[in-house]
Order: sequence, then C-alpha cells, then structure tokens
Amino acid sequence: MKKSIKSLFALTMVGMLAILAACGGSDSGSGDKGKKLEVVTDAAYAPFEYMDKGEITGFDIDFLNAVMKEAGYESEFKNIGWDPLFAEIQGEKADLAISAITINEERKESFDFSTPYFESTNMILVPEDSDIKSAEDLKGKKVAVQNGTTGQAAVESILGKNHKNIKKFENNTLAIMELIQGGADAVVADNTVVIEYAKNNPDKKLKTIKDEKNFESEFYGLMFPKGSDLKADFDKAVKEVINNGTYSEIYKEWFGDEPDLEALKKQMEK
Ligand code: ARG
Repeated sequence: MKKSIKSLFALTMVGMLAILAACGGSDSGSGDKGKKLEVVTDAAYAPFEYMDKGEITGFDIDFLNAVMKEAGYESEFKNIGWDPLFAEIQGEKADLAISAITINEERKESFDFSTPYFESTNMILVPEDSDIKSAEDLKGKKVAVQNGTTGQAAVESILGKNHKNIKKFENNTLAIMELIQGGADAVVADNTVVIEYAKNNPDKKLKTIKDEKNFESEFYGLMFPKGSDLKADFDKAVKEVINNGTYSEIYKEWFGDEPDLEALKKQMEK
C-alpha cells in the first residue's frame, strides 16, 4: 500500500514536470504564434515598399500582411534602410525582413529565406535619348546603383568589381536622382521598379532596357536570421497565400494583371 502511494506520488511528479516543460516550450520547433514580430524594410523601392504620407506601403507590405494573418502573427514594420536591414537580421535584432530581397547563394550563407514569392530581373534605366541598348553598352559609362544590391553585382560583372564608373548609393531613389541630374548615364535596378518609375514620371523622359543575356532571373524571399524557427511557419503561409488566390488579388491591385503563378510554383518546388 505504502509502496503504491509512493509510486503514485512519483508518477504525479513526473507528470507535473512534463506539463511544466511543455509550457516553457520555446524549443517546440515553431515560433510563438500570436506574437508581434518586428519586420524591417528599406521603404525607398516603389512599388514594393515606399513611404506614402508617413506610412510604409507597397506590394510587399500587403503581401506580408496577408502572410502574417495566415501564419497567425502580429507585425510591426520599421523602415530602417537597406544596409542596416541586413545588420539587424544578422544580429537577430529584428525577426524578419521584406524588401524585394533577392535570394542568392551568397546571402544564403548568412541568412535564411522563405520560399520565393516574386520573380524579378535587373533592368537598365536611361534617358530617352540615350544610345545605350544593352548591358555591354554600359562599358565606358557612369552607372548608378543602390549599394549592396544584385544591381550592383550585375554591373560589376560587366565593368569589373569596384570599377570607378560605378556610383553606389544608400538607396535606389538617390541613384535615380543622380541619373536625372546628369551625374550618371544609367541606373541598374529591379525591372518592376524602373519600369514603374519611368511610367509614373513622364516629365523625366526616361526609358528602360532589358538584357536577358546578361541579367538573370531572380526571386525575392522573406529574410530571417540563420536558424530562425519562424521559417517553417512562414513557408507554409507563403505557399497558402499563393495557392488560395490571395496573392493574385494583391498582385492585381498593384500591377493590374495576373501573376505568372506557374513560374513561381516551379521555383517553390525546388
Ligand atoms: N532585388 C535586389 C536585391 O536584392 C534589390 C532590392 C532592393 N530593395 C530595396 N528595398 N531597396 O539586391
């Protein structure tokens, strides 16, 4: 009798410990649902993220809000700029970043990325009367880029690393200003961004040039600190938002037409 009371007591203790452990379970594999996540961005890249009457807005913001809702998290966006965004994520000071960030091998060494959500490629922005017709024509010209972007890398692959004719700016707006003021002959940045800029600013008399031979296809992803336990939840939510039609709705609101879901889904399976 005594013995069984003792073992019952022992069993109860084990049970209570198990419950306690489960409650403290930060190591359960996924993040804390419902938690408010800090999202960092560089809101000078319309139409993906930009400031409008003091508010951070854009396709990326609407898309991420839909993903947050699907994944069951709250979020707070902070516009901190491009270089700081990588530092904050690497130092785990923010939970994730969205900023039209291209997933590539180099970045994958230091960061984790979600499943891809947008296809992009670099493009050249020049004055309407420019004689530049391809990436090769950038040789001997001054090219403005946003520092640390795939646009910079694309230009470096043609002009050479750290070439003196490559003018690097903290954000893409400053690179475009340099072009407009005549300090550069071209800007290289993501296709959607330069096409929108040329279209929305007809007074600036600019045109865009694509070069599929020199500029490869890229895909954007949400960026997390390496090893973040949020990635699994967000991968699932990104796929759901793409598959359930929400993505197409947001895409149509921003770009006016249907997204190429097939290309995206193919990339998702990789
Ligand atoms: N997609 C390019 C890259 O990842 C440019 C992104 C720049 N984004 C921004 N919000 N400024 O390098």
